[in-house]
Parts: sequence; structure tokens; C-alpha cells
Amino acid sequence: MSNTAYQLHGAVAVITLDNPPVNGLGHDLRRHIVDGVTSAQSDDRAQAIVLIGSDRAFSGGADIREFGSPKSTAEPRLDTVIRTIEASRKPVIAAIGGVCMGGGLELALGCHFRVAIGGAQIALPEVKLGILPGAGGTQRLPRLIGVEAALDMIVSGAPVPSEKLSGTALFDQFIEGDLLGGALSFAAKLIAEKPALKRVRDISLDAPDHEAFFQQARKRIGAEAKHFPAPLKCVEAVAAAVGLPFEEGLKFERGLFVELMASPESRALRHAFLGERACAKIPDLPEGTPTRKIGRVAVIGAGATGVGIGMALLDAGIPVTLLEIGQEAVERGLAAVRRHYQDSVLKGRLPREQMDARMALLSATLNYREIKDCDLVIEAVIEDIGAKETVFRQLDEVMKPGAILASATATADLNRIAGFTNRPQDVIGMHFRSPANVAKLLEVVRGAATARDVLATVMQLAKKIRKTGVVSGVCEGFIGERMFGQYRKAAEMVVEKGASRQQVDLALEDWGMANGPLGSGAGSREAPSRIGDAEIVERCIFALVNEAARLLDEGIAQRASDIDMLCLIGYGFPRHRGGPLLYADATGLDRVVQAMAGYAGEPGAAAGLWQPAPLLIRLAAEGKTFN
Ligand code: 3HC
Repeated sequence: MSNTAYQLHGAVAVITLDNPPVNGLGHDLRRHIVDGVTSAQSDDRAQAIVLIGSDRAFSGGADIREFGSPKSTAEPRLDTVIRTIEASRKPVIAAIGGVCMGGGLELALGCHFRVAIGGAQIALPEVKLGILPGAGGTQRLPRLIGVEAALDMIVSGAPVPSEKLSGTALFDQFIEGDLLGGALSFAAKLIAEKPALKRVRDISLDAPDHEAFFQQARKRIGAEAKHFPAPLKCVEAVAAAVGLPFEEGLKFERGLFVELMASPESRALRHAFLGERACAKIPDLPEGTPTRKIGRVAVIGAGATGVGIGMALLDAGIPVTLLEIGQEAVERGLAAVRRHYQDSVLKGRLPREQMDARMALLSATLNYREIKDCDLVIEAVIEDIGAKETVFRQLDEVMKPGAILASATATADLNRIAGFTNRPQDVIGMHFRSPANVAKLLEVVRGAATARDVLATVMQLAKKIRKTGVVSGVCEGFIGERMFGQYRKAAEMVVEKGASRQQVDLALEDWGMANGPLGSGAGSREAPSRIGDAEIVERCIFALVNEAARLLDEGIAQRASDIDMLCLIGYGFPRHRGGPLLYADATGLDRVVQAMAGYAGEPGAAAGLWQPAPLLIRLAAEGKTFN
């Protein structure tokens, strides 16, 4: 027996959440839930209601892709859905498996009962998007797991495995095996025993000494949150759960949610969430593009870069052979890897068995013939085109057909490198930031002849070794070095105009850059100069924006958000500003163009630096933005 809104299993109406990939609570899904719960009220056959998602997710929360569109606030809003559930005369049970996060957890908190399987991921991660739970999460969760634990979850946003919360009132029962079957049995028991319906809102919150607790929390969290307003607002919202009647607490939470949603920091973090995921999407590489198998990898050159790359692979369980030209260099490389892992063991960051397992995956050789069967080889020798030619000619000679030949070069012309082989389709760039085993960015350079499956394979590998791959076309310095070359040039010019090097570094660091462009940030601010900090920042950041516009126009970068992500992940650009192009969008492109035209008109100005890029002029004239 079925209804469009639910399936009847005996006396239980089962509402299935079905909005892949993670059951984001978009408008259609919200309406589906309300329809289901409402219809079940008047269906005499249904005596209980179960809400269930997919194996992957009960729900990942509000649909982030809907944010900013009219759909996100269209009724039924999530708080309306929750009120409908709370008001149901028949018990509503959330059956939780997979991801249960944000609005998804808030939905479950609105149900009368919750059952879960072990290993479900429970979180209120809104803070990571610069907001806070806006559908009662800050008011209901403390009532079930206590103020301290709830505040921890809300401020950190970190997922907690369901079994860790098993002693709390969050879950009424844990299910072994089949979640739906278990939830149906639980519902049958409720139907038989008819217990009173439990509403979390009715639980009174007992929190002695809460004033002192919240004072401490404000101090600690305020110091940690730095540029981000959301964590402190989380404290205020949880404090309201203790201090205000439930309905007033809900209103207070909603006010903060709306305020944070409009903040530039939240816009930046949401941009980062979607932008990081967009990097993996390549317009002419549809999903399902075949990839090549990557078993063993060879790294040519055991200097700092080669060793770092080797460890990035070993950390992901990929066997690595280091190749060097002399025994001494080989020994030095192996010792560097061992030293690094030993250090991690000593600091308690790595179990000794894992060190042993990783070292067992590492070998070294002086002989190209010994790496011929590797699926991927990454050249990481000095930045000298002659040295690269020697390496790639040898690789072309010995490597098995179909092996991917990558260069870790930061500057050399990848198409020229591909031309040293008879298989340019197998050649690709993998520009790691250093230290390569730590830095999260991998600039993946697509040569003129690089085959699609080679690009798809390397992007997949980037994910496997926990890097964000950003695709760049071929040009001098690729995306990152080309942009930051202009940035440093702008910084030097500001010095010529009378700022001290320290002032330049500190102005940009105060603005949020991880490091100043001139590399002497440790100094102190000297006597006041003729040029103010705001102008220093504007000149340096607009130089980044202008070069980024050229890269987009030339098709070197795929999309504006790729450039922003590269800067956030690889170049210490402040996350709360979302990247240079989001910053330019927020500033207003016409204002950017005007400022640059002014700089270009100064006597002795470097025209190449300040001449606004055609794309920038075009977008500004049309009143458009990059993102
Ligand atoms: N809405 C819409 N799409 C979402 C989403 C969401 N809440 N969460 C994830 N997705 C999408 C991703 O964009 C991605 O799409 P793509 O395949 O097209 O790139 C896909 O789901 C898979 O995501 P991941 O690559 O991140 O997959 P993982 O398995 O590594 O992680 C996850 C899954 C843990 C759910 C992770 O995506 C995540 O942390 N999502 C964000 C969860 C979140 O912040 N929820 C709160 C939303 S705000 C809210 O609920 C407000 C409420 O309080 C009113």
C-alpha cells in the first residue's frame, strides 16, 4: 500500500528522504516531509511515522546550494517542518544512519523518538559555514546531551560517532543491522505500549553555575575565533537555551542565524565549501571518465620536494620508489623520510607500526630500468630545463606504455617538457606546494596534449592523497606563481613609494594574509610612512585580482572559484575573505577598476601591473561579478 508521501509498512508510515547525494533539506524535500506527516495524521491505518534517509545520509542539513535563493526561505521552512512533526498526534521516529548533520540533526531533534545505528556521524557543523544552527539545534541539543557537550559540538562543528553519544538522551535505542527493520520494530513497540510523546522542547534544562561557565567559554572561544563572529554567537545561543523560555530561545537563535547568514565571513566560508568541491569538476571530463590504475609511483629526485612528494604518497599507502643519480643522495633521501616519521612517532602523532608500514612501502634506486613498471613517475629535480630534458628523455625510453609522466615543476614550460618525449599525451604537471607532504594544494597542469584519462587519474590521485587539485593550463608560473609574482611586484613598488618592508608585511598580515609578501614579517612597524596600510593592502590585493582576471580570460584557470580556492588553500589567503576574486566582487569591480586606473596614471607606474585586465573592465562595465 503506498501514498506518494509515504509507504505504509503495516501500521507504520515510512517517509523516505530522497535527495541525493546527502539529503540536503531543500524546498522539495521539506514539503515532502510535511506532506507525509500531515497525510499520516488522517490515515487511520498509520499509527506511527518513521523518517529515514539513505545508507549514506539521514540528512546533511539544509541544502547549501539553495542558500541565497528564494527557495531557501520558502515555506515550509525547516522550523515549520519541525513544528509539524512536534505537533503530530502520532509518534514520529527518526531512524538515523550515515550522516546526520546540521538541519538534519535539528530535524531528528524535532522527532519524538530517535533510533540510530553505530557509526552514524552526528554534528552541528554550521559554524564551519560561518553560521549557527538556525532550526532549534542550539536550544534542543543541550536539553538532551547537556550544555557543555552541546556547546563543544556546536562551536567545533566536529562530527561525533553516534555510539559515543549512546549514554545520552539523544538516542532512544541503537539498532544492530537493518536500520529500517529495527525502526519498524521500535515503532511497533510504541504502538503497543502507547507511551506519552516526548518533545525535546518540554525538557527543562538544568545548568547550575552556568554564568561562570559561559563567561569562561566566551573568553576562550573569543580568543580562538579571531576573524570569525560565529563561534561567539554560538555561545550566546546556547546561553539563551539556559536563560530563556524555549520559544524565546528559538527566536533569539533565529535572529543570530539571519545576522550571521548575511555576514561577509559566512559568504566566504560557503564560497569555500562549494568552491573546494567545484575544483574537481572539469567541464570536458564528464563523470565516469576512465582513469588509469596507480599502483606504484616513482619519484625522480630525493631533494626536499621529492622527499615531501614521496611521503604524501606513502601516507596514503601508495608504494614509492625514489630515484637519484648518486648513492649518497639516495641515502640522504631515505634518511630524511625516516627522520620525519621517527619525529612523528616521538611526538605521539604516528603509531610506530604505521611508521614501519610506510617505510616498508619505500624503496630507492639509481637505475631507471628499475622503475620502468611504475604506473606514475613524478620528476622533482632542479628547475633547469636541461636537467628536465635529460630526465624525460630517459623516462620516455624506459617507462612502460601507458605510464603517466608527471613533472613537479613550478615554472618550466610543460608543453616543452612533453616535447622531450614521444608520448606527450601521458605528460602532466603536478605542482605541489611545500612541504609537499603537508601542504593541501596540488596545482595540476594540463598540457596542450595531456590525455583526458591522465588528467582524470591525477585529479583522483589528488583526492586520495588528501590534496585539493586545481587545474591550470600552461603559462609561466601557472596560476599560483604568476599571480603571486605580480603581488610581490606590487609590494616592492609600495616600498619604492616610501613604505618600509616591515610595514608592507605587517599591513598584509594584519589584513589576514598568513605571511607578508616580502618575507621579513617578524620586524616591527617603523616610523609612519607616506603610504597608509589600507593603500598597501589595496595595491597588493588588486594586483592579484588583475592577474587572476587575465588568467581567466586566457582560459588558464577554469573558473573564478578555482583561483580563490588555490589562494586559500595554497597561498595563505585569509579564509574569512573567501579569496581575491570574492573579495573583489564584494568590493565592487568598478571600484577595483577605478583604483587601478588611478595607479596606472601615476608617474613611473608599471603599466603591465596596473592596466586593468580586459575581463575586469568588461565585468565592471556590465555590473557583473567574477563569482
Ligand atoms: N547541501 C547540499 N549539498 C551538500 C550538502 C548540503 N548540506 N552537504 C554536502 N553536499 C554535497 C556536496 O556539495 C557534494 O556535492 P558534489 O558531489 O556535487 O560536489 C556532495 O554532497 C558530497 O559532499 P562531499 O564531497 O563533502 O562528501 P563527503 O562524503 O566527504 O562529506 C558531508 C559529506 C559530511 C555531508 C559533507 O559534505 C559536509 O560536511 N557537508 C556540509 C554539512 C553542513 O554543513 N550542514 C549544515 C548545513 S547548514 C544548515 O543545516 C542550516 C540549518 O541549521 C538551518
